[in-house]
Amino acid sequence: MTIWTPTLTDGGPRYRRIAEAMVAAIGSGELAPGDKLPPQRQLADRLGVTVGTVTRAYAEAQRQGWVASRVGSGTYVCSPEQEAPTSFRAGQPVDQGVIDMGMSLPPPHPLRVRGLQRALEDIAASPEALRAVGEYQPETGNEAHRARIAAWQGRLGLPDDPERLVITQGGQHGIQLALQAVAQPGDPVAGDALTYPGFLHAAQQAHLRPLAVPMDADGMDMDALTRLCARQPPRLIYTTPDLNNPTGARLDEARRERLVALAREHDIWLIEDGVQYLPEAQRGTPLVTLAPERTLHIFSTSKVLAGGLRIGSLTLPERLRERVGTAIRAQSWMVPPLMAEAACRWMEDPDSRELLRWQVEELAARRSLALERLAAYGPMSREGSSLVWLPLPAGRRSSEVQALLKRRGVKVSTPEPFCLGSEPAPQALRLCLGPAANRQALEEALTIIDDTLAEAPTSPWQTL
Ligand SMILES: Cc1ncc(COP(=O)(O)O)c(C=O)c1O
Repeated sequence: MTIWTPTLTDGGPRYRRIAEAMVAAIGSGELAPGDKLPPQRQLADRLGVTVGTVTRAYAEAQRQGWVASRVGSGTYVCSPEQEAPTSFRAGQPVDQGVIDMGMSLPPPHPLRVRGLQRALEDIAASPEALRAVGEYQPETGNEAHRARIAAWQGRLGLPDDPERLVITQGGQHGIQLALQAVAQPGDPVAGDALTYPGFLHAAQQAHLRPLAVPMDADGMDMDALTRLCARQPPRLIYTTPDLNNPTGARLDEARRERLVALAREHDIWLIEDGVQYLPEAQRGTPLVTLAPERTLHIFSTSKVLAGGLRIGSLTLPERLRERVGTAIRAQSWMVPPLMAEAACRWMEDPDSRELLRWQVEELAARRSLALERLAAYGPMSREGSSLVWLPLPAGRRSSEVQALLKRRGVKVSTPEPFCLGSEPAPQALRLCLGPAANRQALEEALTIIDDTLAEAPTSPWQTL
């Protein structure tokens, strides 16, 4: 049997040229509906390219609806009347030719589309559900939704008291509400020197004064925090104790105890952001358990189900609930109940557990791959995490490497946006393991990163 072997045109990334040749062959009839495409490895060998390149070419043709893969069987040319196969990331802006390691997203899987589809279909088929979601609701979320979200969080080992839980439009909204609930304009608010930029933006919007506390691999430096408290106790401390975004640092248990003691001594609120999901075994003792009277805990469906749902939670001391309700009412009256209902149905779908189980395994495999491929540079990544912190070799600058990688089709983040204070950012990259379409694409990106770091730095003269 002869295998289809395209002749590649000049110019542009090779995977795209292969995809274009495939489309041209389908258009010319060289490849007919129902034809099976050659196994990826065979085609890669013939063309002298990596399997990853062929995988991307097939994925691109599939995204455009020309071919469809059948599990365990291969990839086939679609017939014109066949419904175009939906991308696993339907609705996602298509960033052609780029492997995204810059956005912290959960890995794509067909169940992520199917779970939401089923939830929405079930709602659409139920006049009673439609009537309910069409009505105004209490600002902190209706009782049933709060109970269902709390039950889901309980299954994940997270705060599960519906009386203390407020429904938010995702983690970012939770941060904003938490700041609004406990701080006044001008108040000093502390956080790790490198932290999630959404905190900085929300603090700036609320006219607060962010203060950076030095940190290391065990999280916030408690001696530095003690000194800061002696000078000027902050109104609140924002922290991501289980997984610092971007470095992956985890707050040590002894430091959690010290943090709580300092917060009690100086009457400081604690904002505990748990949005970066980690399996329970990889988490430490929650601050909300150690100090429930002063901790506001933030969670979201974004890293477990889907970011576009915009459904999350803020668990807080009872006395703050009314204040937060007033803030939500002033902003938008309530979180859209249709989205809360869709999220609840999806959470309760047994497939969502299967999806999370797969996600944890998939991310573990991707993490091992990244740690192995980039071992020469001392990458850091906590078990269970989807982030890799990659210190750069001496002489390399984050912005230079980021620009080179962008040109070569890999998106990564530099530490600059994560800096809370004015200390210079370290020369490192944050790599997100989630968004790549599959492991082959991730491998391809890791190879590009490895090759780029192995090169001599580009001379600044070239950019002058
Ligand atoms: C630590 C942290 N908090 C909050 C968020 C925002 O979450 P959401 O997308 O649900 O608003 C993110 C998103 O990456 C995050 O990493």
